[in-house]
Amino acid sequence: MKETKLAELMQQMTTEEKIGQLTQIKGDAFFSHQPNTGPKTHDLVLTESQLWQVGSLLNVAGYQKVKQMQDAYLAHSRLSIPLLFMGDVIHGYQTVFPIPLLQGCSWNPELVAKCAYISALESGYAGIQVNFSPMVDLVRDSRWGRVLEATGGEDPYLASLYGASMVEAYHQAGMACCAKHFIAYGAVESGMDYQFVDISRRELFSYYLPPFQSCIQAGVDLVMTAFTTFEGIPCTVHPWLLNALLRQKLDFQGILISDYSSLVETIAHGYSSSSKEAAFYGISSTLDIEMMSDCYLSSLSFLFDSGFVNKKLLDESVWRILSLKNRLGLFENPYGLANEEKEKHFILSAENLKTARLFSSESFVLLENKHHLLPLTSQSKIALIGPYADNQGISGAWSIYNEKNQNTVTIKQAFLERNLDFLYAKGSSVLPEEEINFILSMEGNSPISPSPSSTLQEMQQEAIEVANQSDVIVLALGEHYKQSGEGASRSMIDLPSIQLDLLRLLSSLGKPIVVLLFSGRPLALKEVVPYLDALLWVGFPGTEGGHAIGDVLFGDVNPSGRLTMSFPQTTGQNPLYYNHYSTGRPADQHSPYRYTARFQDIPPKPFYPFGYGLSYAEFEYKALTLSKTTLSLDLEKNDSLTVSITVKNSSSIAGKETIQLYIQDCFASVVRPVKELKHFQKVYFAPDEEKKISFTVTLSDLMFWNQDLAYIVEPGEFKVFVGRNSEDTLEAKFVVSPMSN
Ligand code: NOJ
Repeated sequence: MKETKLAELMQQMTTEEKIGQLTQIKGDAFFSHQPNTGPKTHDLVLTESQLWQVGSLLNVAGYQKVKQMQDAYLAHSRLSIPLLFMGDVIHGYQTVFPIPLLQGCSWNPELVAKCAYISALESGYAGIQVNFSPMVDLVRDSRWGRVLEATGGEDPYLASLYGASMVEAYHQAGMACCAKHFIAYGAVESGMDYQFVDISRRELFSYYLPPFQSCIQAGVDLVMTAFTTFEGIPCTVHPWLLNALLRQKLDFQGILISDYSSLVETIAHGYSSSSKEAAFYGISSTLDIEMMSDCYLSSLSFLFDSGFVNKKLLDESVWRILSLKNRLGLFENPYGLANEEKEKHFILSAENLKTARLFSSESFVLLENKHHLLPLTSQSKIALIGPYADNQGISGAWSIYNEKNQNTVTIKQAFLERNLDFLYAKGSSVLPEEEINFILSMEGNSPISPSPSSTLQEMQQEAIEVANQSDVIVLALGEHYKQSGEGASRSMIDLPSIQLDLLRLLSSLGKPIVVLLFSGRPLALKEVVPYLDALLWVGFPGTEGGHAIGDVLFGDVNPSGRLTMSFPQTTGQNPLYYNHYSTGRPADQHSPYRYTARFQDIPPKPFYPFGYGLSYAEFEYKALTLSKTTLSLDLEKNDSLTVSITVKNSSSIAGKETIQLYIQDCFASVVRPVKELKHFQKVYFAPDEEKKISFTVTLSDLMFWNQDLAYIVEPGEFKVFVGRNSEDTLEAKFVVSPMSN
């Protein structure tokens, strides 16, 4: 529709119809006319006429369902303005890809984009028009359950890169998308979900803002606010964050949407004293859509009529919403990408599953491989043991359109397909029954059926028998998939103790043990690693998890994943991130001097650092050289230098290596991080192949936010580090000089 026509349409809308556009409700509530009475949310009771005026629906999918709803809606809509269908397609629709945290470990933005594209098409054919993705929150505390959603992990450069590639992929597929959660949600105090955030603006600009900036530059359509407060004001109505920073400084012209009932929650925060006040703060902060609460519906008319709020704000919001509907072509075709034929054939297609398998195996991170135990030969007699050995829960949380995981390939299934000589025993449940039941009850779900067929002792005994008959034990362990995700913060991020018991028991048999570790977050593995020989972190790998695990275990794929979140020594080491500021008393790993920045009871370093991961191949790094050692400060020139390094695959196995470049600004007007990732290359090496890898470092890699929030480069000394992870690097120095060179 031409813009002039759209403007004419808007002129015909009543104030009530306009306010309706600003409201989003759950699809099912809409369909059944039932109020929403979920355990955590607020009741949302709409009148019949309000119901037929809402602008968008949340999390409803399936061609038939979407079509039925859209048709019913349009039959009631006076001006035939179509509904917008939004949903959370976080790591796949029916073809479930690895959880985003694991996806990021591929260090492969093209692959991340490809999967975003497939997810968009699968869900688009099923009627979803807007995806609540990418989640670009930076994560530093593995107690927070939502670290599983963070493709970029603890690094702003990776988060920016992945965020933009996902936005581009969604757009290529014809789907609109939403960057979330604005902002610094990942910095919740002590990793506890929904807790407050209070960090400096410089910290915000340096670490948390870049991924949003990058998504906005890539043309993201919506931004979702965070549940949390920032500087004591809820992010959903924060005038400085939303008006000054997002709209003005970042020039975001798209739709700003609240999180689930986060507008009415400003009352519980003790910020708004009523729905009226919440609506006032929301609309004044340019919050366009209120998700799952009714402050706007109940109060906006009053606020306009009494002159508290200028109606211009309403028109601007409605315009942004109608413009998106128009951009998606919904006035011509209200079903968007929805297509029954394609829904049938494209979803879970062989090609999509193939990509999912490839993606999972490219993301797994090999953490230990003592005596080159992996890859296994298919001739070995294997004991496949553990609560995740034959468990479709390996798809992971936050795949709401595939909760039953009935298509997920388990490890046992994959082993059977490979015709391996193996015996299987469960060995233990993921958690003791009462703990699972408590987690289920937190969501209002009924307990699991009581009395497992065998007791824990019987399961352990069976595992021992199976192990005794084998050459090698493959043990699939991990946290419950419901222990990560939203509302799943943990105060202890250890492996569940019944599983550690099983591991200890099996290790006493003296057979080699490969642990496949499932989790939505880094776990504290200090107590686990002494009992195993090889360790592969497989996150939650999605539909094709079982196949992909087989591919890596037996060497069809050489693992190339690298961590994007540091694994801590213990829970108490959190928050933990490689790009922290320098301290005046840096700890020395080799000398345990008391008065330095360290804990007494653990070494002063992560258990596994950012960027870490092993390969079946061996890579040597040598000859780090710089093309020059002085850069001119003249910004107009954007001077650059070339950093080169020679990397050799010194093994007879082909493999991919991720060569990482970090920079440190040694002295500056504000204390700078000890290291920051600026570039990387993921490179394929044939056996014995040697390559010279080069990077260009420019002044823009050296810029930072100073005390006055100006983005600048300062002259002085810099270090450049190149290596296989954030700790194992070669280093060189250069200077930025105010004098022209
Ligand atoms: C709450 C979550 O915080 C957000 O990420 C999600 O998109 C919305 N619910 C909608 O489901």
